[in-house]
Amino acid sequence: MKTSTLLTYLLTTAATTSAATVPTRSPPTRARDGQHPLVLLHTLAPVAPSPSTSNFRLAAAATNADTRSSRGGAILTAPSTHSNTTTTNLNLNHITTAEAFFRVPSARVPTHGPTGGNPTLTFAASFWVGIDSSGSRTPEPGCGASLRAGVDTFWDSFAGGEQTPFAWYQFAPGQRFATGFEGFRVAEGDVVRFRLETPSSSSSSAAAGAEEEEGTGGGKYAVVAENFGANVTCDDAESCRGLTPLVSVRKVLPAPGEGEEKLCGGEAAWMVEDFPLAGMPDIPLPLANFTRVEFNGAGVRLEDGTERSVLEVQGVKVVDIHMEEQGGRLTRCGVLPGMKVRCTRVVGDEDI
Ligand SMILES: *[C@@H]1O[C@H](CO)[C@@H](O)[C@H](O)[C@H]1NC(C)=O
Ligand SMILES: *[C@@H]1O[C@H](CO)[C@@H](O)[C@H](O)[C@H]1NC(C)=O
Ligand SMILES: *[C@@H]1O[C@H](CO)[C@@H](O)[C@H](O)[C@H]1NC(C)=O
Repeated sequence: MKTSTLLTYLLTTAATTSAATVPTRSPPTRARDGQHPLVLLHTLAPVAPSPSTSNFRLAAAATNADTRSSRGGAILTAPSTHSNTTTTNLNLNHITTAEAFFRVPSARVPTHGPTGGNPTLTFAASFWVGIDSSGSRTPEPGCGASLRAGVDTFWDSFAGGEQTPFAWYQFAPGQRFATGFEGFRVAEGDVVRFRLETPSSSSSSAAAGAEEEEGTGGGKYAVVAENFGANVTCDDAESCRGLTPLVSVRKVLPAPGEGEEKLCGGEAAWMVEDFPLAGMPDIPLPLANFTRVEFNGAGVRLEDGTERSVLEVQGVKVVDIHMEEQGGRLTRCGVLPGMKVRCTRVVGDEDI
């Protein structure tokens, strides 16, 4: 039964809620700065439980990755330094910076599909930019780290619906959970930018978030998060780049120590992900009906100093969230001219 996993989940949820007069999860209190009442488990590899088992499956390369995935979006692999060699780990022109702007989508209860109109569930959708985070390729030796940053959105039926989105970053494997940015709040409709920098990024790059530089810049991993507010136009790379942030934070991260896995820039990704809730790691939460997300200015800077848009690197891979128990294909993602990665929420084969 392909729907067994979801049914199990639904039944478990229903049983829990009907057995208790109050929701098992405590009602949300005012979130502290950098925290959120709902915590998603930001697993490093896509969670794609087999429909036939409720066991947690965490696989860097799922056996059927093209048809079962909790992630949708675009993955760009670092190009080869030589145009006529095949891409091997030895001669990659590594990614040193990855970034994108996007408008924080709204998250609602889906109107149709197996999870549609169900008022007893919690729905989520996560939007992120990452370096070495897609799990789509075997990292070079010693290069098992992953850096990503983004926004989680929620619709929580237990807590009356729409929830404040949560902006986060995660430098793994050191950080098992995502960390919220302090002093950086986001709301539905805000235009935000996330920029990930590795030690080899040129510090003279046009990082708009240089104001709050904590370290000396060079030799550090850093995440820049900016919020431009909702009342701005950000339809393409150019219009987005012309904006002035209302809030900008730059978080410098400790570089991995001796013998620890490093971040090498083998790939970058712009993703929508359906994560599990922390404490319920076996299955992704039902995916919220999110309004179309567009990662604008989706691009990278390479080791050789050049900047490339997501379309300027050969072999960009587009993936969709696909989970039978939630109705099959759940996103329609594509890469468009103008440094754009766009994902729309669908159910199954519906056209949008
Ligand atoms: C391409 O490969 C051929 C054969 O390996 C080599 O002779 C040639 O120099 C290479 N060209 C470049 C631009 O790397
Ligand atoms: C999401 O909401 C929009 C607007 O209400 C609706 O048109 C669309 O069909 C919904 N999609 C899903 C998957 O529920
Ligand atoms: C949005 O921007 C326009 C043009 O800059 C301005 O006229 C309007 O008052 C702004 N609205 C809000 C709610 O800030």
